[in-house]
Amino acid sequence: MTTLQDKVAIITGGASGIGLATVKAFLDKGAKVVIADYNEEHGKAVEQELKQTYKDVVFIKVNVAEEQQVEDLVAQTVKTFGKLDVIFNNAGVGVQKPSHELTAEEYKRVIAINQDGVFFGAKYAIREMLKTGGGSVISTSSILGSVGEPTSMPYAASKGAVNQITKSLALEYADRNIRVNAVAPGFIESGMVNKEALGEFYDGLVAKHPLGRLGQPEEIAHAVVFLAENDFVTGTTLFVDGGYLSK
Ligand SMILES: NC(=O)c1ccc[n+]([C@@H]2O[C@H](COP(=O)([O-])OP(=O)(O)OC[C@H]3O[C@@H](n4cnc5c(N)ncnc54)[C@H](O)[C@@H]3O)[C@@H](O)[C@H]2O)c1
Repeated sequence: MTTLQDKVAIITGGASGIGLATVKAFLDKGAKVVIADYNEEHGKAVEQELKQTYKDVVFIKVNVAEEQQVEDLVAQTVKTFGKLDVIFNNAGVGVQKPSHELTAEEYKRVIAINQDGVFFGAKYAIREMLKTGGGSVISTSSILGSVGEPTSMPYAASKGAVNQITKSLALEYADRNIRVNAVAPGFIESGMVNKEALGEFYDGLVAKHPLGRLGQPEEIAHAVVFLAENDFVTGTTLFVDGGYLSK
């Protein structure tokens, strides 16, 4: 079993929600963590706060949809901490709109961040992992990568792609000791998913989860730690969904 002590990890979308909970979980396990996020204000604030407790945590601004920026992120991480053991490709966005009204720009933006961003993160992380003899690539999928959702087509498409990217890369790099997995959350209280933002739709969403509540970011972070530490898991999409997909 791999332990996260002294491992170096990049966590994209690390300034908020699931990413931030995972940053904290990794730091608690002794990892050195790069918070990689597009939101500089949140990212810097989180970095300052965490630095009061943890030594090895830095914020680096990145737009994961831009390949050059992701390459630079990985290079800067290696410059700062000497290597890269884990990347958690977690930054993601959605768009809710009837599909016949979607613009090409709205569609492409979701694909660029959720799908291309996972490719770029994996590509440059794997280049470093090949040099050091192994590592772990983990990406955030969703239950909506496996079932459809009206008015969320680009999001569901991008998350289905994450599942397939995961399986293909797992097969491609297994013999080089690089494991590739995804975590697929049900609806998790964070960012745009909360009672205030969802209003009248909140209770209906809760009812879709047999456990009778939405998940917490820490419950996804726990699964990401498991995927990072368990040396015999690769090519899997781990559902942490309160039973959503069992219905
Ligand atoms: N919350 C849920 O219910 C839920 C369910 C399933 C999957 N997910 C997935 O979990 C991941 C995290 O979502 P969350 O709920 O924590 O949301 P969140 O909005 O709280 O956090 C997302 C973070 O990603 C950052 N980000 C957005 N675009 C970026 C970009 N182009 N480059 C770099 N950073 C960018 C944001 O600034 C933000 O800090 C996403 O991939 C999302 O699709 C969320």
